[in-house]
Amino acid sequence: MKKIIITIDGYSSCGKSTLAKQLAKQLGYVYIDSGAMYRAITLYFIQNRVDWADTKAVKAALKNVTLEFNPNPVTGQSEMYLNGENVEHFIREMIVAEKVSEVAAVKEVREFAVAQQQQMGNKKGLVMDGRDIGTVVFPQAELKIFMTAEPAIRVERRFKELYAKNKHVTIEEVKENLELRDYIDANREISPLRKAEDAIILDNSQLSMGDQLELVMQWVEDAIMAHTS
Ligand code: CDP
Ligand code: CDP
Repeated sequence: MKKIIITIDGYSSCGKSTLAKQLAKQLGYVYIDSGAMYRAITLYFIQNRVDWADTKAVKAALKNVTLEFNPNPVTGQSEMYLNGENVEHFIREMIVAEKVSEVAAVKEVREFAVAQQQQMGNKKGLVMDGRDIGTVVFPQAELKIFMTAEPAIRVERRFKELYAKNKHVTIEEVKENLELRDYIDANREISPLRKAEDAIILDNSQLSMGDQLELVMQWVEDAIMAHTS
């Protein structure tokens, strides 16, 4: 069967990576979490006190950043490595979430990440989620999904996830962080979060994970058919 590129963009915590992982598993595709790359760069900048408002400092720092995805030996899930170290756990913490949208708005950071993301798409059979994947990274993708869910539902979903790992997190701080990130991501100058013209909207507020997979698998079949000649 013909292999395609599937892009999933949208607001924070609406279930993009959950859907992307489901699709990759079902289709035997590679899954790339582009947000993890911005989170890893942010972690590096925090750890090394890089001032991301200083272009020279950013350019110099990025020369020392190597990003890789490697599978977890037990679960097989892809995990983020920064300069050879597994940072999957650290990049999900609030300290990174609080700064990542500022770092991701920096031109040099985006050029650095996008070039690597496009290289990963050299081979088809890829699902990538993020904010600008359908608009900038793979404008030629065969299937583009723009995901959303009601804000209160998104806050609750992310809160549950973070609280399971850290009982100190509060629902107020999660809500504030989601609102701030969505605002910065949608209003930045370079590659703002936008629905690509040819993207299909998926509001999964009332959809279970099984329902959303069933619905989207139909879109995948349609996209493969439409691009097979
Ligand atoms: O999973 P969640 O929705 O919380 O965010 P993420 O996908 O891990 O992305 C973290 C942040 O990285 C976003 O809030 C954006 O600021 C940035 N990002 C981006 O600018 N472009 C992308 N393609 C992916 C993420
Ligand atoms: O990648 P993104 O930030 O858009 O969201 P995610 O990390 O995939 O999903 C955030 C949370 O929502 C996860 O804990 C999922 O299990 C949950 N979720 C859900 O409850 N129902 C769905 N239909 C999709 C995701």
